[in-house]
Amino acid sequence: MTIKTVKCTSPSNIAFVKYWGKYGRQLPMNPSISMTLKNCHTVCEVTYQIDDKNPGLKSFQFENEENSAFSERIEKFLESISDIYPLVNSLSLEVKTSNSFPHSAGIASSASAMSALCFCLAQIESEVNGESDKILEKASFMSRLASGSACRSIYPDYASWGEYTSCSHSSNEYASLFTEFHESFKKVKDTILIVSSETKGVSSSLGHTLMNGHPFKDSRKEQALENMRVITNAMKLGDWDTFGEILENEALTLHALMMTSNPSFILLKPESLSIIDKIRSFRKKTKTPLYFTIDAGPNMHLIYPEAVHKDVMNFIESDLKEHCENGKYIEDEIGVGSVLL
Ligand code: DP6
Repeated sequence: MTIKTVKCTSPSNIAFVKYWGKYGRQLPMNPSISMTLKNCHTVCEVTYQIDDKNPGLKSFQFENEENSAFSERIEKFLESISDIYPLVNSLSLEVKTSNSFPHSAGIASSASAMSALCFCLAQIESEVNGESDKILEKASFMSRLASGSACRSIYPDYASWGEYTSCSHSSNEYASLFTEFHESFKKVKDTILIVSSETKGVSSSLGHTLMNGHPFKDSRKEQALENMRVITNAMKLGDWDTFGEILENEALTLHALMMTSNPSFILLKPESLSIIDKIRSFRKKTKTPLYFTIDAGPNMHLIYPEAVHKDVMNFIESDLKEHCENGKYIEDEIGVGSVLL
């Protein structure tokens, strides 16, 4: 039996409109849109052979070491996709992954890790079956089943996931490329200020579940739809003011939803709030298009056009670095999505 290897790199992504709440088989409660990152990525190498008698995951290494927790998660995932990826019943697999960012940096790694694995699986399917049609869509579909936000990492620049009215090809089952953006959104930076590298106090899975009985569930759905409409339009027009307003509104809404769920979670730290204050004052004073977003943790993502990179870095060094854990931040930017190596 021939042994073959597929290797790829796949990045993390940062959501502008947040996916928060799900139903059925990993379907999103509301649509979301994200920027694909470049520097925070996973490299995944899958060695495979067709073996109907002895299929399954034979070994898993993370950063060159066996890792039973990750291995179990992948085994479970592979079992769960046999209906949409029947090839899994005849594949013997060895998987090796590593991340470009430290595991303990407080940066979510499931989007890059799961999209990397699923991108390799989609490539393998196309090699075995000789069908190269819709590989990205299939990779995104499988990534969604592994970890919702991972489905957006496959694509370059920007991706949206979930049905919304102004996009006729949008789907709840996989993400798609968002292409209609203004020149000024071509080169965008995301500098991630590490406020705390501790593992977060609430898993995203629990957070999503808590949206089910949430008192603001219905209004959140409406708000997300409206925010999608407004932010995609602002990105089309190159209207950074409106873009930034929605970006920050989404970040604070996500945290407001966590604070007001039952049980309630406060993931922001005093340092996160100091950073918000300083960014807003800096923006007012200098008119620099610098905005923040936040995921389900205390770290701050600073989003801005490349054109103001120097001014923003000076501001980070002089005013914001002191709020970061050991002065740590990660410089990232818009990226190209999953790529075969
Ligand atoms: C706050 O994709 O990690 O980052 O589907 O349960 O794996 P699961 O959740 P996950 O949720 C991430 C939510 C978020 C917002 C976003 O990326 O849209």
